[in-house]
Amino acid sequence: MQNSPIGLMDSGVGGLTVLKEVQRLLPTEKTVFLGDQARLPYGPRDAAEVTTFTRQIAGFLQRQADIKMLIIACNTATAAALTTMQKELIIPVVGVIAPGARAAVQATRNHRIGVIATSGTVKSDQYQQTILAKDPHNTVFSLATQNFVDLVEANDLTSAHAQSVVKTGLAPLLDKNIDTLVMGCTHFPLLRPLIQEVVGPDVTLVDPGTATANMATSLLDYWNLANPSGVQHPAGDYFTTGDVDRFNKLADNWLEETPVRAHHLPVAELTQTTEVE
Ligand code: DGL
Repeated sequence: MQNSPIGLMDSGVGGLTVLKEVQRLLPTEKTVFLGDQARLPYGPRDAAEVTTFTRQIAGFLQRQADIKMLIIACNTATAAALTTMQKELIIPVVGVIAPGARAAVQATRNHRIGVIATSGTVKSDQYQQTILAKDPHNTVFSLATQNFVDLVEANDLTSAHAQSVVKTGLAPLLDKNIDTLVMGCTHFPLLRPLIQEVVGPDVTLVDPGTATANMATSLLDYWNLANPSGVQHPAGDYFTTGDVDRFNKLADNWLEETPVRAHHLPVAELTQTTEVE
């Protein structure tokens, strides 16, 4: 099991922001990533449907690669399915919301924290609840900016159109005097320069992916699952249910490890069984 890969999943390319951190912090670990781009976006879907998709993907990653840990590199799927997947799987399952909330609580000085996320994550209210559970002195301002996901999936990270979408989307937060903003969707760190420009240099941007990768390193040690080989990991395995060329292009722009050569996975292969071993 120590030699097995770590599995990561997202609705699309956003989870690559978490994968990049995992690859940086854990250079001897193998990774396998699945982006469910054919069924993206997850944000507007109801929690039961997102849980079904997450279960299908976890089952695939277990059958395909015998993963030793699952990182749900998607806030929407974490909100909907983390608790269920932790009950159903015997391997450790890590989500991004608790580590992101913890990082925000540690970063804020004035206790006014903004959270931008998909509509599903905002509806779940899990960031607010988790942040307040860790420190009730905070005030949390949550805002759904679902259309930022479309920019990232279209690889539109710098254009005038992207700047205008980000500026308009963040406007409701600008008079809230926040000093910390959680990028509560794994797609959003790809828009970090635009987001920072709009909120200004005094606001600390929190990327839950960084905190999640850190948590994964500790859990591997705790469960004695770390790869002991001392050998640099081979190239990761990548699957997308969507267009392979589009996935590869985005992944090549974002990851250190290139070129990425993703495999296409038809959605039918995920839906033919929902059973998790
Ligand atoms: N990347 C996902 C997240 O972190 C969701 C994007 C979507 O499919 O709506 O929430």
